[in-house]
Amino acid sequence: MHEKIARLIELDRAHTLVAHIGAILGWDQETYMPSKAIEERAEQLAFLEGLAHQKAVNPEIGELLTALESAEGLSDDERAYIRVVRRDYDRETKLPESFVTEYAKAASIAQSTWAEAKQNDDFNAFQPHLATMVELNRRRAAYLNPDLPAYDVLLDLFEPGSTQKSIASVFSTMRRYLVDILGEIRKRPQIDDICEGRRVDADTQARISEYFMGVLHYERDRGRLDISAHPFTTTLGGNDVRITTRYLEDYFPTSLFSTIHESGHALYEMGIDPNPAFRATKLSEAICMSIHESQSRLWENIVGRSRAFWERNFTALSALLGKAGQGIDLENFFKSVNRVRPSLIRTEADEVTYGLHVIARFELESALFDGSLKVENMPTAWREKYKELLGIEPPNDRQGCLQDVHWSMGAFGYFPSYALGNLYGAQFWATLKREVPDIESRIAGGDTLSVLNWLRANIHTHGSRYTPSELVEKVTGEPLDARYFERYLREKYAKIYGF
Ligand code: CO
Repeated sequence: MHEKIARLIELDRAHTLVAHIGAILGWDQETYMPSKAIEERAEQLAFLEGLAHQKAVNPEIGELLTALESAEGLSDDERAYIRVVRRDYDRETKLPESFVTEYAKAASIAQSTWAEAKQNDDFNAFQPHLATMVELNRRRAAYLNPDLPAYDVLLDLFEPGSTQKSIASVFSTMRRYLVDILGEIRKRPQIDDICEGRRVDADTQARISEYFMGVLHYERDRGRLDISAHPFTTTLGGNDVRITTRYLEDYFPTSLFSTIHESGHALYEMGIDPNPAFRATKLSEAICMSIHESQSRLWENIVGRSRAFWERNFTALSALLGKAGQGIDLENFFKSVNRVRPSLIRTEADEVTYGLHVIARFELESALFDGSLKVENMPTAWREKYKELLGIEPPNDRQGCLQDVHWSMGAFGYFPSYALGNLYGAQFWATLKREVPDIESRIAGGDTLSVLNWLRANIHTHGSRYTPSELVEKVTGEPLDARYFERYLREKYAKIYGF
């Protein structure tokens, strides 16, 4: 291997090390940290962010990149590695260290304020922090690329190459068919949710979560499950990929499907292994958020809400539920977890209306950043947007604009990844089905490893070796096509609702 590559890897690994230490503190903050420790934790995280930033902007990295970009005889992996390091280096060197620490501190405090504001349904308490995070992101975008609209710069951070315009165009196609399918469903007899209002204690739900992590082949000696306000997956190291869930005692499917979703994220992280020489470097990281979501949502919905999956696993679920599961059978459970109905909470939305929740946030964020929406008007704008897209209005902000953690973290531009993830997921699934035609009967027979192995070989293992568009072309033979998701939805829901 080129000695300059070896040096680049050494410098990059120092950065990864700091990032993983920061992830441990971040994980602890969301799970076990006592509430009074928040200010100190914010300082600790800001200090580490500053340190990570120093590592990332080391001028030696810039010199090595320049030398390597014109070097000959490099392998494909070495070239891919240089590309991802370059993208990150250019981004980091544009942000002053003082800004990075200011941002980290503000985000940490905004997150804990949000959690409390959500609990108390108190938008006013969160409003100044939301304003700060918007302002900081405007500044961040201006540092990164002053020539582009701020929201375009932010979108590109999560989905490389995307713009407000390109996403709006994909979403207008998706919106049309989602509204159309929803219309078909509403003409049919509606489904009652057999799980609703059924009391299942947290311990039982924890056992259910643990069981399904096993079904998905989540590696227990490389991670763990804990509880947080908003479920998430975090990578603390190549062999430490943790997930969280939350237990609603009157609605157990929330924790069940959150756990499957986060396991899907974790399986991706656990399966990244493009090349042993690049362990703990940027080549061994996930490509982007939408590909990440394609994995979590594929497991949660395409596999986890399929008939085949429950033909195999319903008996075990029923045994775990015990008395609390009385009256639930395979048929009414399968229908309940696939019930389509406009609702208020994105993370609990069905597959058909989910995309509309994402479009709502995308349009509100666009308005926040083009200046047409003021932060203080968010609660009203949110209610109007929900009325327009889903035909319902939240009775409070807790179930409205305070429901998601993302804005408190400053993750503006992130939400589109969720919907793009559905589109990528459906396209990957169509390819998987073509290559493994009996996949559904395998799942029904308890073989989820066939799914995992296919995803590992085709997607997980590559890490950041390809760009998202290269990967989708390589795996499926064509660029991203929103019609795969449409076909998947129509086929599945025509059967369930009989249209
Ligand atoms: Co996710």
